[in-house]
Amino acid sequence: MGNPRMLVFFFIAFITVAQSLPFIVLHGIGDKCRHQGINHFIELLSDWSESQGYCIEVGNGSWDSWTMPLTEQTAIACEKVKKISDLRQGYNIVGLSQGNLIARGIIEFCDGGPPVNNFVSLGGPHAGTASVPLCGSELVCKFVDAIIELEVYSSIVQAHVAPSGYVKIPTDIAGYISGCKFLPKLNNEIISERNSTYRKRFSSLQNLVLIMFENDTIIIPKETAWFGYYPDGAFHPVLTPQQTKLYIEDWIGLRTLDEAGKVKFISVSGDHLSISQSDMKRHIVPYLKDHISMVTTYNTKNRRILI
Ligand SMILES: *[C@@H]1O[C@H](CO)[C@@H](O)[C@H](O)[C@H]1NC(C)=O
Ligand SMILES: *[C@@H]1O[C@H](CO)[C@@H](O)[C@H](O)[C@H]1NC(C)=O
Ligand SMILES: *[C@@H]1O[C@H](CO)[C@@H](O)[C@H](O)[C@H]1NC(C)=O
Repeated sequence: MGNPRMLVFFFIAFITVAQSLPFIVLHGIGDKCRHQGINHFIELLSDWSESQGYCIEVGNGSWDSWTMPLTEQTAIACEKVKKISDLRQGYNIVGLSQGNLIARGIIEFCDGGPPVNNFVSLGGPHAGTASVPLCGSELVCKFVDAIIELEVYSSIVQAHVAPSGYVKIPTDIAGYISGCKFLPKLNNEIISERNSTYRKRFSSLQNLVLIMFENDTIIIPKETAWFGYYPDGAFHPVLTPQQTKLYIEDWIGLRTLDEAGKVKFISVSGDHLSISQSDMKRHIVPYLKDHISMVTTYNTKNRRILI
């Protein structure tokens, strides 16, 4: 009787599974993840895109969104995304207003963070705003605005009023560059502190969707949602994104992305953040539906067959 020949079969099946990347939402100033509005927004996007959505809270929501400097808000958000294991294969971001700057902070500054695939920005003050988004046009608001504008680059305001981190007064660029603690760094505007890592990370996005609201009265000018802004030294005219130095000299990779066809400049009707459901379906959902191919290995190793 001979010894049985033992064959070991390694049977490996590769199965390709299509899976949507999850997304996170970063809310605007004065909002919080427990509010119904933001929950409803995320629920709709999740349902339509069939992907998991997470609301990332910074601090205690409304209060901290107003008072915590954006550098700190970004550091907290960075630690949070690193802890969500579901995001490890990559994820998409939907930013609302001020939340867009935290989003870009995560993309540019977050060492060791998971990769961001698409970034959809709604009403983001990307190039700054020429007025603090306080109340509006009432007399009292004008007074408060005036005080903050007068002192906006002082260290006390910078340390306690989050939006002061992205107020850019075109007639005080020197004050902005030396006093403003967040946006000049985020936009690589300070020549001596430019960091090519920020540019490299931002320009590695697959898609950048910049949604501007035609009747936006909160961020000034509304074109800042597209990286358009006033020229240094004057409140007129509003430069198109392509006319700004940030774009021409490609400080953060916006031009690189645009030339690769990866930037969508979208204009929708309505005031700040008042996006319709049909515009959500048209301009946000397609970028949350991206699929990644995952190779799953089934290995039936060590199944012995005796002959
Ligand atoms: C939020 O936290 C701050 C401290 O960071 C605290 O002063 C404030 O009272 C808190 N607000 C609410 C509504 O919990
Ligand atoms: C540039 O930024 C990266 C990412 O935060 C950091 O690791 C690096 O030290 C920075 N480089 C300089 C020269 O500051
Ligand atoms: C919204 O803006 C458009 C173009 O900027 C303008 O024609 C329209 O009248 C505005 N609508 C409202 C309600 O203000």
